[in-house]
Amino acid sequence: MFIDLSNRTILVTGVAGFVGYYLADQLLNSSFNLQIVGIDNMNDYYDVSLKEKRLSGLLNHKNFSFIKGNIADKKLIEKIFVKYMPTVVINLAAQAGVRYSITNPDVYIESNLVGFFNILEACRHSYDNGQKGVEHLVYASSSSVYGSNKKVPYSTDDKVDNPVSLYAATKKSNELLAHAYSKLYGIPTTGLRFFTVYGPMGRPDMAYFKFTNKLAKGEKIQIYNYGDMKRDFTYVDDIVMGVVKVMEKAPDANTDGVKYKVYNIGNNHPESLMEFVEILEKCLNKEGIIDKPAKTELLPMQPGDVYQTYADVKDLEKDFGFKPSTSLEEGLSHFAKWYKNYYESKK
Ligand SMILES: NC(=O)c1ccc[n+]([C@@H]2O[C@H](COP(=O)([O-])OP(=O)(O)OC[C@H]3O[C@@H](n4cnc5c(N)ncnc54)[C@H](O)[C@@H]3O)[C@@H](O)[C@H]2O)c1
Repeated sequence: MFIDLSNRTILVTGVAGFVGYYLADQLLNSSFNLQIVGIDNMNDYYDVSLKEKRLSGLLNHKNFSFIKGNIADKKLIEKIFVKYMPTVVINLAAQAGVRYSITNPDVYIESNLVGFFNILEACRHSYDNGQKGVEHLVYASSSSVYGSNKKVPYSTDDKVDNPVSLYAATKKSNELLAHAYSKLYGIPTTGLRFFTVYGPMGRPDMAYFKFTNKLAKGEKIQIYNYGDMKRDFTYVDDIVMGVVKVMEKAPDANTDGVKYKVYNIGNNHPESLMEFVEILEKCLNKEGIIDKPAKTELLPMQPGDVYQTYADVKDLEKDFGFKPSTSLEEGLSHFAKWYKNYYESKK
């Protein structure tokens, strides 16, 4: 079902996050004239000043309201839904990261499971007393649900019952919970399995950012599985364009009568880790961030990591006429330009 976003209210959770910020910014500057209500708990999993910087860009917009809070706070989520009555809900708030879930499991259960459950419950009750309620819930899943699957490219028809990290298990659980709520209460839901999103103002916990920090200081970078890994890197603008297209089209009922869909959003072009390091080096060199070849330390595979990610995006193309297209060279050069200005100015 097509949803005209004009003059509607959209709730974006994790709005000060990397993807949330770019999505909200794109929507606020679109011709839709919509209202965005954003929530974020501004946690310090990574440099909070980056979250504040993103948020400051949004706060200037008259159609943007921000609530600092936790999606695991059920009362708060209920209040937000009653007050703002969002038409579309985009759930991006989550504890991300595969490795961090090994040392900090509790926060994954709180944000990714309890938080997501609260969003589902609030969507369910948005229909109380015959109200029109939420017309589409879109939520971030992850390529990590594919675990160590051997068959590539990864298709949403593949079995994903063998997560290799707690993070992946919570994302797969989100898809299961969404299915149950779509079936029971008719909430149209779409899950998006993002594949390694990168770009300016990105997440400092991700490899491309950590490598850049180290290389800029002339330090060695750690390359896991001795460099034998592949990643489908997806530029943030492609992710945002995909989310906007998806949010406008709530799934119709499938043959079981359930308004439920899951899509991959990835570049459909995996790069080997060593090629990736070469491209990153070239971009950093061009901006004058480094002037020497990268020093590398080759290490074994880390627990929770997967050998490769590779998105099959046929369904996305079929249903939305869209697939990510930004090359790694182009995307990393945007990142390097941003990094030079933002981080070098903080020195
Ligand atoms: N970036 C990627 O490569 C990638 C890949 C696959 C999936 N995802 C998923 O996409 C979504 C967005 O990712 P991102 O890269 O923008 O991450 P991010 O960490 O930059 O953004 C998430 C935001 O949510 C907020 N948050 C976390 N827990 C919260 C809670 N309980 N209540 C309120 N706010 C909370 C954080 O403060 C953060 O600002 C996440 O769900 C993530 O798991 C991201």
